[in-house]
Amino acid sequence: MSAPAEANQRGYWGSGLGFVLAVVGSAIGLGNIWRFPTEVGENGGGAFVLVYVIATFLIGVPVMLAELALGRKTQRNPVGAFRSLAPKSGWGLAGGLGVLTGLIILSFYSVVAGWTLKYTWIAVTGSLHGATPETISATFTNFIRDPWAVLTCHLLFMVITIRIVLGGVQRGIERAAKILMPVLFGLLLLLVVRSLTLPGASEGLSFYLKPDFGKLDSVVVLKAVSQAFFSLSLGIGAIITYGSYLSPKHDLVSSALTVSFFDFFIAFLAGLAIFPALFSVPGLTPDAGPGLIFVVLPNIFNAIPLGNLFGAAFFILLAIAALTSAISMLEVVVAFAIDELGWNRRRAAIAAGSVIFLLGIPSALGNGAVPFFSGTLEFANQIFGGMALVVGALLVSLFVGWKWGVGNAVEELERGRGTFRLRTVWGFLIRFVCPLAILTILLQLLRG
Ligand code: PHE
Repeated sequence: MSAPAEANQRGYWGSGLGFVLAVVGSAIGLGNIWRFPTEVGENGGGAFVLVYVIATFLIGVPVMLAELALGRKTQRNPVGAFRSLAPKSGWGLAGGLGVLTGLIILSFYSVVAGWTLKYTWIAVTGSLHGATPETISATFTNFIRDPWAVLTCHLLFMVITIRIVLGGVQRGIERAAKILMPVLFGLLLLLVVRSLTLPGASEGLSFYLKPDFGKLDSVVVLKAVSQAFFSLSLGIGAIITYGSYLSPKHDLVSSALTVSFFDFFIAFLAGLAIFPALFSVPGLTPDAGPGLIFVVLPNIFNAIPLGNLFGAAFFILLAIAALTSAISMLEVVVAFAIDELGWNRRRAAIAAGSVIFLLGIPSALGNGAVPFFSGTLEFANQIFGGMALVVGALLVSLFVGWKWGVGNAVEELERGRGTFRLRTVWGFLIRFVCPLAILTILLQLLRG
């Protein structure tokens, strides 16, 4: 395939700002507002949060730089990126793991994103307006038990994702994200203020922010680290892929820092909105699992004037945030099919999207609709959203640190910016700290 034809199929970002917005769009999504509070709630609160923060900046940011450098240097999908820097080696498999993981993560991600579509509708129609906490909880349980409702929402979300990916990278979505993300941020602030002023808020606050180190074990640490990767879109090659659409004039280092900071901040605010409110509602516990935000948030909206309106706006924005993340996951698979299999964008997007929809059916139905599939969503979320990302990030850091080489990577990071002053620190982190930290956690887990 000739270079220009390939560039046409693959596409490029319109501008540097467009790129940063697209990466922010990829990073900020259900990972911040749904997965983060759920994990914090299930894994003991403050201690988890502390490990998550450390992991984000000490391991996540360096790996993000490594993925960006890999992507821009090679202008390839994850498989092609590893292969082109280490031909005739097994490293392509590391990219392959990412593509596979992306397929599976998106399959359940789309199910939860479908729930947010349903909740937009619930808020618009006002059907939970003034409802008791019991009714709110029962509404969620009944919804996820209804096979047709959950499948329709999952399908709808995948169809929208496919449609946007069909259009290629330049069109529309970056611009939409630019306007919508600040609005989401504003609404989140509103929720935080209301949540913090509810009776009982301080109990929630201390659960969220006061670390109880007795609750830390290797499983909790692994989950906090993998949450950092999940939230930053690392470990499946999404950032490699987005970096591959980037021209040499952009500054990778400041992009990575900006994105990581916003990503962390939004997750942090989501926790501040959820936990104080949670403790103010009798009968709710932090370990409610994947339904947590759907049973907590409607209670907050009911305690706010014009709550329906804010609720509708919030859930629609959450769906859009999920969409910009889902696009980046589908894009990994599509870029792989375009570069490596020679497919056109249309075929790649429709085929991959359909497979993902089908893969997601057990996760959609496994929450009470079909007992046989019970627990699929949690399982996929834990193994692929957790473990596989960590392994993916380990491979990226080993590859960049030891195979491709820190010197080459730094050269790429310095293109479009000039000296990268923390190059030595970064080199140390990516060669030693990231792989050793990840390996230690994985070994601890294996030992039981
Ligand atoms: N970071 C996204 C979120 O927080 C999810 C994601 C994971 C996107 C992995 C791409 C790759 O919702």
